[in-house]
Amino acid sequence: MAPITMNHVTKVYGDGYPAVNDVSLDIADGEFMILVGPSGCGKSTLLRMIVGLEDISSGDMLIGGERVNEKAPRDRNLSMVFQNYALYPHLTVYENIAFPLRLKGVSDEEIKRRVEEAATTLELTEHLQRKPSQLSGGQRQRVAMGRAIVRQASAFLFDEPLSNLDAKLRGQMRTEILRLQRRLDTTTVYVTHDQTEAMTLGDRVAVMRKGVLQQVASPRELYEQPLNLFVAGFIGSPPMNFLPAAIENNQVKLPFLSYPLPREVAAQIGSSDLLIAGIRPEHFADSSLVDENKRDRGITFEVKVDVTEWLGSQQYAYVPFEAPDEITRHLAELQQELDSEHMRTQMIVSLDPASRIRDGAKSELWLDPSRVHLFDPRTGKNLTREMTIAAQAAAAPAPAAPAPAAPAPAAPAPAAAAPAGAGSASTSAAGASATGGPAEPPAAPDGSVRAT
Ligand SMILES: Nc1ncnc2c1ncn2[C@@H]1O[C@H](COP(=O)(O)OP(=O)(O)O)[C@@H](O)[C@H]1O
Ligand SMILES: [Mg+2]
Repeated sequence: MAPITMNHVTKVYGDGYPAVNDVSLDIADGEFMILVGPSGCGKSTLLRMIVGLEDISSGDMLIGGERVNEKAPRDRNLSMVFQNYALYPHLTVYENIAFPLRLKGVSDEEIKRRVEEAATTLELTEHLQRKPSQLSGGQRQRVAMGRAIVRQASAFLFDEPLSNLDAKLRGQMRTEILRLQRRLDTTTVYVTHDQTEAMTLGDRVAVMRKGVLQQVASPRELYEQPLNLFVAGFIGSPPMNFLPAAIENNQVKLPFLSYPLPREVAAQIGSSDLLIAGIRPEHFADSSLVDENKRDRGITFEVKVDVTEWLGSQQYAYVPFEAPDEITRHLAELQQELDSEHMRTQMIVSLDPASRIRDGAKSELWLDPSRVHLFDPRTGKNLTREMTIAAQAAAAPAPAAPAPAAPAPAAPAPAAAAPAGAGSASTSAAGASATGGPAEPPAAPDGSVRAT
């Protein structure tokens, strides 16, 4: 087991384009780190530089504190699992798992011990004498993981290992990988373009865009306190709503409502007639269903709902809005970059399934304005991040004492304990250098909450 440290790692391919651009990242011993971002953002390139399959153009790569830039892949003692499992069709499951050990000349007896142990962990014991063609996709993926485990590597590296599987199996395998990683406690770097995988698997998630690290943080922090428009739009499903916003006399004006901004925040941002407001669908509510003691914290406003979708446990309402050309242009670019299908000029509102709000009707919604993020459309910067952090801290109960080993109630992250940005990425407009804070404690047993 080993920590992995990257200092200003850059990869420039032959055409001069930096596929990975000045990435600094600390991955703690035993940590589960996700690299996520849209296709082509440099995730695989970065992973291949860790393993040694790709030369590093500049910067340092350290594994277990030792610089490995010039080390051959076989000398780095890492295990990589690919999207296509790369199993040998003519070999049995047993021999596929044993393969790296045979190469190293490990004794038959030791091989037997390790293969059987891995097979038990992965529930493959009954399949050891079968060939890969006789297995399901999920079982094949487990064999590939078995081969990674027996090597007792310092770290596991996964490159989109689940993208060939159907949605149901993907969900199952996700849970299995998480369980396996927790059990083995081995440093893991996992590449995916799927934000759901990123959110559910990682201790921390590193979001990349065009070779540049955008933010490194726990899933919860990424979700609640995104540093910029890109991270805000990438994380979350259905995605965050982006609405045109303006500030005038300390008032934020949105298409359907306006609300006062705390004086010091307004002073910081100044007057602006061209901002983008980001609001998560679930931060709206049907105003008739809002708790009396909570109602005062928010504002109510009227909209005309275009379409509602009732899904039993959830309900969504779609509300079209008008936006100035310049905002629409920014949002269209962002949408294209995010590979997003969501139409950005209609708002998605998540409603209680009991809500009686219906298509075509005038309806009253409720919103807590402290949950609204304001972004600068030109730089993408989240201008109200510190305000959100403070508001969330104020709303959260006092942090509990350190959690005992037994399942603890999922305490909200005590975000106020750290100044804004501490322990996460510090991103500047010119080439972000994001170095994560120290490793966080592992997730609660249910994997639901990770401390910030
Ligand atoms: N061998 C290569 N030669 C030149 N360019 C490459 C090579 N491999 C990847 N790239 C480019 O580097 C960028 C990042 O690619 P990659 O790391 O595969 O992205 P991801 O895994 O995030 O989809 C892309 O623009 C891709 O076209
Ligand atoms: Mg890739």
